[in-house]
Order: sequence, then C-alpha cells, then structure tokens
Amino acid sequence: MMAKQKPAPKIKPLVAGNWKMNGVGKQLGEVKKLVTVLSRQKPKADVMICPPVTLLSRMVALKPKGVALGGQDCHANVDGAHTGDVSADMLKEAGAKAVILGHSERRADHGESDKAVRAKVGAAQRSGLTAIMCVGESLKQRKAGETLKVVQAQLRGSLPDKCNAKNTVIAYEPVWAIGSGLTPTVEQVAQVHGALRKALVRRFGDEGAKMRILYGGSVKPSNADELMAVPHVNGALVGGASLTAKDFYGILKAYL
Ligand code: 13P
Repeated sequence: MMAKQKPAPKIKPLVAGNWKMNGVGKQLGEVKKLVTVLSRQKPKADVMICPPVTLLSRMVALKPKGVALGGQDCHANVDGAHTGDVSADMLKEAGAKAVILGHSERRADHGESDKAVRAKVGAAQRSGLTAIMCVGESLKQRKAGETLKVVQAQLRGSLPDKCNAKNTVIAYEPVWAIGSGLTPTVEQVAQVHGALRKALVRRFGDEGAKMRILYGGSVKPSNADELMAVPHVNGALVGGASLTAKDFYGILKAYL
C-alpha cells in the first residue's frame, strides 16, 4: 500500500525588514508609525525589523507592539578580541529575537564563506536567537543555469545539524534582485523555494517541512501579493521598502 502523504504544515509567515546600514534616531518615527497602523489592522504574519545595531536598543525601548527586532550579523564567538564585532549574546541581551546571517552583502563585502556562516548560525542558535540564513545566486550563475546547484550548496554548507523550525529561517535572495528593482518570475521563485523545501525536509525531517523560507530582493507593495502567493514562500525579507512604515505596511497587506 502507498504511504499516506502528510499534509503540508501550516506555516505562519514572517515579514522582516532589513534596514542594512540605514537609519539614525530620526527614523525611529517610522517604527512608531508602523506600530500605529498595525494596531488598526494586524496582518496574519509575524513582523520584524532588523535595524543597524546602533538603533537596536533604542527600538527595544519603544516596546513596539507587534514588531519583533533582530540584528543583521553576529560573530561566531561568544566574546573576545574582535574589534567592531557583536556577539549573539549581546544581540540577545539588547532585545533581539533573531539575526540575519550570510546575507550576500556580507558574503561579498566581508568574504564570508559557507563555513563561516555556519559557525555564526550555530552561535546565534546557542544564544537563543533565530538565525535568518540567506542564500542566493548571482546573475552570472543564473545565466549559467547554476541557480539550484548554488543555493543548495549554500544551504548545505551554511546550516549546522541542529536546525529546527524555531531557531532557523531561510531567506532566498537572488543577488541580482537585491536593490535592483528586478525580481525573478513567480515560476523561478517557485522552483527555488520548492528545491529548498525538499532539501530542508531531506535533512531536517518534519522540522524542515515547517521551516520558514522567505523571499527577498526588490519586494515592494506592488509585487508583494504575487510573490507571497508562491508555494513555499513563507514571507519576505525586505530591504529598501522596509525603511518607511508606508511601504513596509504596504507589503504586509499581502497577509491581511
Ligand atoms: P531590497 O528589498 O532593497 O532589494 O533588499 C533585499 C535584501 O537584501 C534584504 O535582505
């Protein structure tokens, strides 16, 4: 007899804003505005902002109802002589719930390898943070037909073995779609997210089936509905459009 297929688990989406190296004190007003609009109509998604580390404590002090906060990177070590770096424990103590790791900008600007990212993901998880681990192909790799190979290798190499649906979120961000206004077609997104889901289930079983896979790269209010409706897209990682409450909420409306 054929084994009965398990129904796909219901996954609560996450929409996270990555402010990157943007934002000083006066932008805290955008968080207050976001909280106000969320208090009127709350989308069926978890909402998060990952500000630059200088704003993290200030955002936490606002106690922004309905908005979780996260970091953008952490060191793999608990402490030590690492000038300019921040540990996962420090982020956690400051009030972060999650941390973005292995973003393509860090992989490119700071030469972070899959191995380095894996060590950071482990450190974040040990500190009780959710690691939002990013993968994505360059335009050259897409044109060469290497997309799936590239993202699967990044996924394999950048995740430690003890990942579960609570301590790990995956973000698929095609490098060429970041900040460019370009987005993959829904078919292309479906193909990559489907392949990532398969790989996660193979490695982490039921936890892999429940893990959130976000899409990131030029998500805007005008394309959010379409992108968020793609199978195995469980939310978004948003750069530029997360900087204002108006645009960020415009994206969150995909989940009203
Ligand atoms: P944009 O939304 O600005 O394209 O950035 C995406 C991103 O890199 C989020 O991490």
